[in-house]
Amino acid sequence: MTDQAPQKRLYIKTYGCQMNVYDSERMADVLRPLGYGVTDQPEGADLVVLNTCHIREKATEKVYSELGQIRRMKERKAEAGGQMTVAVAGCVAQAEGEEIMARQPAVDLVVGPQSYHRLPELIARAHRASGQRLAADFSADEKFDGLPAERHVAGVTAFLTVQEGCDKFCTFCVVPYTRGAEYSRPAQDILDEARRLADKGVREVTLLGQNVNAYAGGQGGGLAELVRRLADIGGLDRIRYTTSHPRDMDDDLIAAHGEIPQLMPYLHLPVQAGSDKVLKAMNRAHTAESYLRLVEKIRAARPDMAMSGDFIVGFPGESDKDFEATLELVRAVGFASAFSFKYSRRPGTPAAAMPLQVAEEAKEERLARLLDLLDEQQRAFNAACVGRTLPVLFEKPGRHAGQVVGRSPYLQAVHAEAPDGLIGQIVPVRIESAAKMSLAGVLAGHAAMEPA
Ligand code: 5AD
Ligand code: SF4
Repeated sequence: MTDQAPQKRLYIKTYGCQMNVYDSERMADVLRPLGYGVTDQPEGADLVVLNTCHIREKATEKVYSELGQIRRMKERKAEAGGQMTVAVAGCVAQAEGEEIMARQPAVDLVVGPQSYHRLPELIARAHRASGQRLAADFSADEKFDGLPAERHVAGVTAFLTVQEGCDKFCTFCVVPYTRGAEYSRPAQDILDEARRLADKGVREVTLLGQNVNAYAGGQGGGLAELVRRLADIGGLDRIRYTTSHPRDMDDDLIAAHGEIPQLMPYLHLPVQAGSDKVLKAMNRAHTAESYLRLVEKIRAARPDMAMSGDFIVGFPGESDKDFEATLELVRAVGFASAFSFKYSRRPGTPAAAMPLQVAEEAKEERLARLLDLLDEQQRAFNAACVGRTLPVLFEKPGRHAGQVVGRSPYLQAVHAEAPDGLIGQIVPVRIESAAKMSLAGVLAGHAAMEPA
């Protein structure tokens, strides 16, 4: 995201999940009235914000190494007589605020995910080099109330955070500690924000939440009710949501997938592992069998549902046999896409203190085997689309001249030779070839389009 003619230059680097992407956009919205325009170059920026992720050790390490580089840029700017303000936001800020300030003196302020509306005040204080430089409280409603209604919209798709936080306490995960308890935004606020997005040309929204299907911000209705109301907004042709917990996948939401054409047939439903022993130790509150039954039910409502998931290999106590159960579950489901991780020991979480931590080599080997299987499934899913005509929402010009790129209902990237004028439109594309990460096709007549 780069803005025109900024007075002051703001560089935001986003790590981690889509909720951070949304938050980064909202931070830019908060700062725009103060004269900050977004740049994609940190060198020489007036304000640098690192919006961080704490979920795995690697993500956290990256932040400290990036801060080392930012520090040198800050020094160069000071030598040239300028001033660079450095802010650390996001989940590392929430979890390690004091430590960041101590470890990296170049950091001027630290701001947790619930405090972005306070950025202007924190920056002013940092400039005066006095007062509070750390804001890490847990009030999500204050955050959303304090953010400007106006959103800068860059494309035809947008993220919209509807829920934050997590009460599930999976034993490996830091999220309940960094993002706090589950909080749902009031439905009216979300509908207003969605309407404003649609007015600005957004055709597809992805509703975000750490536990988005635990959404409970309406009058009794859950996420399904919210989706129904969003589907009534003219111009909003596609609705997605992520990330969901199997436990909160209720019948109403499953039924919604069969009833609401705007609700896209792609579901990210992390399962994490296929061994009931491991699932229990993870405190997941589902078994392999109950997950499979759930997928069956979902596919009964929406037969072409593309399933996606998250997996962790090498959780403490995971044996070869347990890992085989994960592969078995993957074979039984058939995933269209997935994200797999080696277990990362996070201080303060129950799993970090569990005996039988798995050796790094075993984690590597299991991850490689899992990735092979998931790659194969993704390629098979994509290959099965060849010959079909899919509705594609074109989003932006492609890498090659004359090409545009969009997304299929199943969230696959689709390339086609087409005029730029089709960006923002949903157009039938006959799929001619498939690779692991994308499809390619040609424009087809409208009569040819399959419903999706
Ligand atoms: N180690 C590895 N992966 C993790 N995840 C969460 N915590 C950890 C951890 N400690 C993964 C889960 C989750 C995704 C967002 O990140 O798979 O669904
Ligand atoms: Fe973490 Fe589990 Fe909550 Fe997901 S459901 S955010 S993995 S604790």
